[in-house]
Amino acid sequence: MAEAPWLPAPAKLNLFLRIVGRREDGYHLLQTVFQLIDLCDRIQLVPRSDGRIERLDGPPDLAPRADLCVRAARLLQPYAGSDAGVSIRLDKRIPMGGGLGGGSSDAATVLLGLDRLWGLDLGLDRLAQLGLQLGADVPVFVRGHSAWAEGVGEQLLPFELGASSYLVLDSGVSVPTPELFQAPELTRDAPPATIAGFVSGQLFGNVFEPVLVARSPKVGDALSALREASAGTALQVALSGTGGCCFARFARREHAVAAQSGLMPTWRSWVCGGLDRSPLHLAMDQGSRAEDTRF
Ligand code: C5P
Repeated sequence: MAEAPWLPAPAKLNLFLRIVGRREDGYHLLQTVFQLIDLCDRIQLVPRSDGRIERLDGPPDLAPRADLCVRAARLLQPYAGSDAGVSIRLDKRIPMGGGLGGGSSDAATVLLGLDRLWGLDLGLDRLAQLGLQLGADVPVFVRGHSAWAEGVGEQLLPFELGASSYLVLDSGVSVPTPELFQAPELTRDAPPATIAGFVSGQLFGNVFEPVLVARSPKVGDALSALREASAGTALQVALSGTGGCCFARFARREHAVAAQSGLMPTWRSWVCGGLDRSPLHLAMDQGSRAEDTRF
């Protein structure tokens, strides 16, 4: 039998991030632009008929029980019946706790992959709703478009950002997201940004950047290194999500490559392309057209 395909789970960058209010349950109301990028985890789903959900391998520092891949499969299982099971392999490439949405994207890939494998056909609206139970960043990966986002991150407007290149740098600081959202010094009443302002090139910044830099000087060092290496060519340098990864945005890939070569080799970094559409959705659409039932 052919080997089950490896499905991509792309990372995201937040091109800006501000908090405009708070819900009664404590969740923050955000505005952000999610830019999907071509730095991807890879996931293999092998169906089984004994009802077991297991992770065969994956990062040793991520316990299977806490793994969003496993939690996504468990969330979907009641729709499939108790015989439906899966063995999951996770090839982790996106830094964990880096603000790049890796865990959320992995969860979305499992939801979409199992929806197909288990023949559920729940549709994107239902899968996005389910995904939201796992994390505020899951819906954007379920829908598979770069997007302007509001609410807690689930109100999504697909956004064509066009071709951009990024140099993504890992500060090495792994950030506990809930803790950062609780920071008393966080600005929670920013005036709403407008799409028109964003499109005209206004930079709205990331509300978490000053908060994290004050707590973790290494993030400040990473941002300085990125600014220095990309001076004169970068359109923007910022933190992604709650950090600790940051990025520089460029109009041309060669500028990103040149900036990367100017970084001290001790920094872990990636030159990435921006994507308007998730490679997972492109692969699945292609699979459908070819009547490829492996997905
Ligand atoms: O949804 P996710 O699991 O990524 O969020 C982790 C934590 O971050 C939440 O438990 C919540 O404390 C905080 N959060 C928030 N407002 C958001 C997203 C996350 O307060 N919009």
